[in-house]
Amino acid sequence: MKIVNEMNVENKVVFVRCDFNVPLKDGTIRDDNRIVAALDTIKELISKGAKVVLMSHLGKVDHKDPVKCEQDKAKNNMAPVAKRLEELLKQKVYFCEATRGEKLKEAVMSLKKGEVLLMQNTRYEKGESKNDLELSKEWASLADAYVMDAFGSAHRAHASTYGIPEILKSQGKETAVGYLVAKEVKALDKVVNVKKEDRPYVAILGGFKVSDKIKVIESLLKKCDKILIGGAMAYTFNKALGKEIGTSPFEEDQLEFALRCYKEANGKIVLPIDCVVANDFDNPTEIKVTEDSNIPAGFMGMDVGPKTRELYIKEISKAKTLFWNGPVGVFEKEQFVAGTVAVCKACAELNNAFTVIGGGDSAAAVKQFGYKDKFSHVSTGGGASLEMIENDGHLPGIDVIG
Ligand code: 3PG
Repeated sequence: MKIVNEMNVENKVVFVRCDFNVPLKDGTIRDDNRIVAALDTIKELISKGAKVVLMSHLGKVDHKDPVKCEQDKAKNNMAPVAKRLEELLKQKVYFCEATRGEKLKEAVMSLKKGEVLLMQNTRYEKGESKNDLELSKEWASLADAYVMDAFGSAHRAHASTYGIPEILKSQGKETAVGYLVAKEVKALDKVVNVKKEDRPYVAILGGFKVSDKIKVIESLLKKCDKILIGGAMAYTFNKALGKEIGTSPFEEDQLEFALRCYKEANGKIVLPIDCVVANDFDNPTEIKVTEDSNIPAGFMGMDVGPKTRELYIKEISKAKTLFWNGPVGVFEKEQFVAGTVAVCKACAELNNAFTVIGGGDSAAAVKQFGYKDKFSHVSTGGGASLEMIENDGHLPGIDVIG
């Protein structure tokens, strides 16, 4: 796999797919992590004298409903990203409102060596998510070379992540991955292909739905020595095992899978043995800790209990390789943060272990609790890191680079 520093791109137009899908509120970027993570690649291309064209999606755009489409476009305008990039790069970043057509062509053609342009949100184009051939051809026709640095979007075979490099490669043009993708692949490979000497391998899976994580659970069962399951997902498992779960959310259609999976795991799956429960999600007036994994009627599980925390800490402390995706409780609410903090602290305190956070909410949690620097790798891609594990190290947006 070629990396950006091996490219020969002086005076060439290089399209760089980044993942600038950052949280925006009223036009203000709330977390610029993903922009910062792309800087090394952009700086490398600038120093090589390339004409750098950055592209990314931001949020979702509903093209089926015209009114919603316009609202989504207004909400997911990429202009603040250009402004932030300009501050971070300390050089002018041109912003092109157009995502195709003459205006985009003119903006790209007028770039000089070492200059940077960001185009508007790729999802403004209806054909982007469908990997539309005409759109891919139009974008590819403007580029001399392509760099994939959007790790968080590498599980999407879209026009900007797949169509362009596929066409450019067939024309013998240079394609490569950026520094961010190279770093992510190297780190995630260690939780995909775990060597004997790097075991025990412990995975912690939290979050809401079992259905979102079926494939990763199946894949991790083959790779891991232990899987600790927390978050709302645990209630589907516990219900499948015949436990009372009160008013906790669960997925009826996943009960069979959960039961089969638990049995086949042969002791590898660790579920909560007690819970912090509340009588209401939004306005809890009664909060208590259950004796065991049964939750009384009228209460819902909000976090793992103290006995489960101890059990998790014990399992985590044995790990030599660790992967964590998804908080184990409703950590946004102070009363239910203890489980996720305990997991975070136990992982962060591991010595001589390779620890990976699989993006999303768990990445936000480790940042919030101040443990980010204590992990070997905090991935910028939630969905992408899970799919990478599911597909044994393969993602379409990276495989296409070759
Ligand atoms: C993410 O935030 O996980 C990536 O940017 C992918 O976004 P998507 O799920 O909208 O494709």
